[in-house]
Amino acid sequence: MNIRKLACALAAAFVMSSAAPAAELVLVAGASGRTGSAAMRLLDEQGYTVRATTTNRERAIERHGDQWDWLELDVRDRDAVFAAMQDVDYLVCATGTRSLIGGNSPRFVDYDGLVNLVDAAVEAGVRHFVVVTSAAAGPYRERSRMIIFARARHWKTMGENHLKRSGLAYTVIGPSALQEEPAAGGEPIRVMARADYETGAVAIADVAILAVDALTNPDARNKSYGVIRDESVAPGAWRAMLKTIRVDSETEEAPDHPLMPDPE
Ligand SMILES: NC(=O)c1ccc[n+]([C@@H]2O[C@H](COP(=O)([O-])OP(=O)(O)OC[C@H]3O[C@@H](n4cnc5c(N)ncnc54)[C@H](OP(=O)(O)O)[C@@H]3O)[C@@H](O)[C@H]2O)c1
Repeated sequence: MNIRKLACALAAAFVMSSAAPAAELVLVAGASGRTGSAAMRLLDEQGYTVRATTTNRERAIERHGDQWDWLELDVRDRDAVFAAMQDVDYLVCATGTRSLIGGNSPRFVDYDGLVNLVDAAVEAGVRHFVVVTSAAAGPYRERSRMIIFARARHWKTMGENHLKRSGLAYTVIGPSALQEEPAAGGEPIRVMARADYETGAVAIADVAILAVDALTNPDARNKSYGVIRDESVAPGAWRAMLKTIRVDSETEEAPDHPLMPDPE
């Protein structure tokens, strides 16, 4: 190659690299948790830029390593949530609490925290908001069946309703019992309207696959669905099933649907 051709090739390479779009930024709230960290690994593989949040940076690095630039964020802190949302294109919320009472209980994490994330996402113009909640949450679920978790499901449902009313494009994913194995997922899974959910379990990695897919899959848009492992279906059959699930506004998932009464 002569000098002139080499200079042209270098110039073309420069133009191409400077014209390449910046990787889209996904904020993962609860990235240090089991589902959040599985989602982060997938997002990385798929070339997204990830803003990984935790309430404790040191602990998150111990558990998951320092390849992510961990951002300390408590979703109860509204100002901090708004500040964290700068430049965010997509959001995956996989926060959850194991405290059934006290200051970090579902009232404050699953509800207030989600409200803060949703309001900040609206202001930032986030393109799609995915929240991982529970197969047994939702407006018409019989919450009295397992009273110990009833309050958590109540507050998850209230948070979901805020998201549904926000005007954001969204997906509500309701996992059944989360299981660590198989770590890579890829099992046959069934997605369903939560009204049809009975009971089941699902690999965390498969929930993460659904969550990342939902960011850009039009068949997941403005829908809520449960997910269970189901050996009777083919792996990947969930994609066709997703098409048959109706958008929330046409179902009892609509946010104005009366809630099942709460157990006292
Ligand atoms: N366990 C199950 O079988 C099951 C079944 C169905 C649905 N779910 C739901 O699925 C979701 C994911 O569950 P998981 O087991 O993957 O969660 P997890 O491992 O318990 O992780 C919870 C995440 O929430 C974060 N978090 C807690 N309080 C927070 C706060 N105040 N501000 C910001 N972040 C906070 C934690 O951050 P730090 O660790 O950094 O504090 C952590 O990243 C949850 O909503 C859960 O309720 C669970």
